[in-house]
Amino acid sequence: MPEPNCSTIAARTGVGQDRAHGAVMPPLYLSSNYTFDGYQGKRQYDYTRSGNPTRDVAAEAISKLEGGYAAVLTSSGMAALDLLTYALRPGDLLLAPHDCYGGTHRLLRSKAERGYFRLKLVNQTDPHALEAAFAEEAPRLILVETPSNPLLRLTDLRAVARLCRAHGTLFAADNTFLSPVLQRPLELGADVVVHSTTKYLNGHSDVVGGALVSRTADLHQDFAWWANCIGNTGSPFDSYQTLRGLRTLPVRIRQQETSARELARFLQQHPAVEKVYYPGLVDHPGHALACQQQSGFGAMISFELAGGEPELRILLENLRYFSLAESLGGVESLIAHPASMTHASMDEAARQVAGISSQLLRLSVGLECPEDLQADLEAALTATLPAGLKVA
Ligand SMILES: Cc1ncc(COP(=O)(O)O)c(C=O)c1O
Repeated sequence: MPEPNCSTIAARTGVGQDRAHGAVMPPLYLSSNYTFDGYQGKRQYDYTRSGNPTRDVAAEAISKLEGGYAAVLTSSGMAALDLLTYALRPGDLLLAPHDCYGGTHRLLRSKAERGYFRLKLVNQTDPHALEAAFAEEAPRLILVETPSNPLLRLTDLRAVARLCRAHGTLFAADNTFLSPVLQRPLELGADVVVHSTTKYLNGHSDVVGGALVSRTADLHQDFAWWANCIGNTGSPFDSYQTLRGLRTLPVRIRQQETSARELARFLQQHPAVEKVYYPGLVDHPGHALACQQQSGFGAMISFELAGGEPELRILLENLRYFSLAESLGGVESLIAHPASMTHASMDEAARQVAGISSQLLRLSVGLECPEDLQADLEAALTATLPAGLKVA
């Protein structure tokens, strides 16, 4: 039998496993604890912090989709990233992107400042900068975020894997922006995949969660041990919701991507837009790489709005179907202003180095009808133009 397609894995996870009643869908086990079968008779589960049947079904699904050995589900994406840092000891070097999600930047910088590890931020999209960083000192761990949040820059995962193999470096990739449907970093040489399951995997903006998928048993066991030790495992209810969301992940993300491709092309020709960042556009610097290592371009678009703060206000006040909110990857379309929202925890200088301007806006394209989304953007963008430039 060939390996099942991701849609089959997502739809069939846990189906028909209930031996008590033959429930088609796996039940939700909320219990925090489990009885022992008499003295020293520990069953498979004893306490939900260390293990829970519902969380295990969701973890197995995510791990299978990523092609990993197993996954630990955590209470947030940040908890998964924090868990990853337990692979490091004081003095170890961590190489991270200079333009990653603002929360990741804050976590790594703050822990490095307290001496948990040493941190070097590099422009990972530049292969020479990466090679130079490895040549200067081989890191113990590298964290890659591709495409990056919010500028959708791409890092060559195969090239990073080659460097890691040559230097004995552990390789972790944050796959939040694409999900395993559009990119499978473990197949391209990563050792660990990080997810904010809050985003596409759950996909309905009603869970905050994370996952750490490991390629090997040793890595997984280490992360699972620490997750139980520090107590940052995901809740059963969130796991249940995530499992429900996962079942439709392949169809959701493909439809969202189709809409995003159309909207990116539309934005590119609008006079109120100065620049569009979307790897599906042929003039995006990472387009060729996206074609090699991704099986789709995703549903996140960023763009620079012409003008200044008054134009930003006009745009945001005129949109009907793009809600001004943090987060991404849900069924509803969102717009965010990274400098004042998702990346506000980065200081101004760090934002400048990363290329995050005050006119940058980020779209998470949802499942609404693409024509409605385009009409909404068209009206709001046109409202920002000086009277003479408005098309009748
Ligand atoms: C790429 C990326 N990684 C990790 C996170 C953190 O996830 P969470 O908000 O679930 O803690 C985010 C949040 O936006 C993100 O965009």
